[in-house]
Amino acid sequence: MTVTVPEVLFRAVSKRFTGSSAPVLEGIDLSIERGEFVSIIGPSGCGKSTLLKLVAGLAPCTSGEIAVNGMTPENAREVVSFVFQDATLLPWRTVEKNVSLALELERSQPPPERRQITQKLLELVGLSHVAKHYPRQLSGGMKMRVSIARALATRPRLLLMDEPFAALDEMTRDRMNEELLRLREEQNWTVLFVTHSVAEAVFLSSKVIVLAPHPGRVAHVLDVDLPYPRTEATRESQEFDDLVNRTSRLLREAHRL
Ligand SMILES: Nc1ncnc2c1ncn2[C@@H]1O[C@H](COP(=O)(O)OP(=O)(O)OP(=O)(O)O)[C@@H](O)[C@H]1O
Ligand SMILES: [Mg+2]
Repeated sequence: MTVTVPEVLFRAVSKRFTGSSAPVLEGIDLSIERGEFVSIIGPSGCGKSTLLKLVAGLAPCTSGEIAVNGMTPENAREVVSFVFQDATLLPWRTVEKNVSLALELERSQPPPERRQITQKLLELVGLSHVAKHYPRQLSGGMKMRVSIARALATRPRLLLMDEPFAALDEMTRDRMNEELLRLREEQNWTVLFVTHSVAEAVFLSSKVIVLAPHPGRVAHVLDVDLPYPRTEATRESQEFDDLVNRTSRLLREAHRL
């Protein structure tokens, strides 16, 4: 008998920062299966970034526990990649050197292999032509794609993304959303994605989690049963519109909880 372990499991997770009286997150129970694309939405300050940091092992839970593929977040770090809201590229390194940084630090690959992996990743995000450029020579969207390529260099199985496309215009964001789904199809990641855009959450996700604030807790979990691959036609469908409206309503309710 095979027992499937959830990719991410939250059991009664609470988080209170030292020195603060109120918990940021309380009583979070969630199970995320391998291959799911899960978005987290909720009012500013409700603990979305904190939740991702707990999964990444960048901060400990105060009570309860999180398991990533059956391991503690600290032990699972090797299989997890984090894309932060700002691209956080090193300005003195070229695009290719930013992407290869994690591999250099890991030292698990000899330089020729590193170069090959980096080239492949730049191709994947459509940036081969700017490999020798510096971050200051790139647009915001290109920087974000470098940061995504960098996150992929270590071959993660779980991708944590904190508002990665917030700074982009709507057209570029839509395109990036489609690209992200295409990459995910290829690479078979599980994704935990934070956004303030309901339409983005619905377009990308198999599941949307709505958090209520003070303390941050799960108010609703919505299944998005629109078929993949999702395209422009998805955005134009009545089903998509209905789901966006329903999710927006639940988000407004969560603000009042
Ligand atoms: N290191 C920290 N020490 C103390 N308090 C913190 C720390 N990090 C976050 N907080 C507090 O935890 C709460 C949740 O913060 P968090 O960044 O997780 O919110 P968020 O939902 O991501 O908000 P936004 O949508 O604005 O990004 C806030 O009140 C914040 O002040
Ligand atoms: Mg945040």
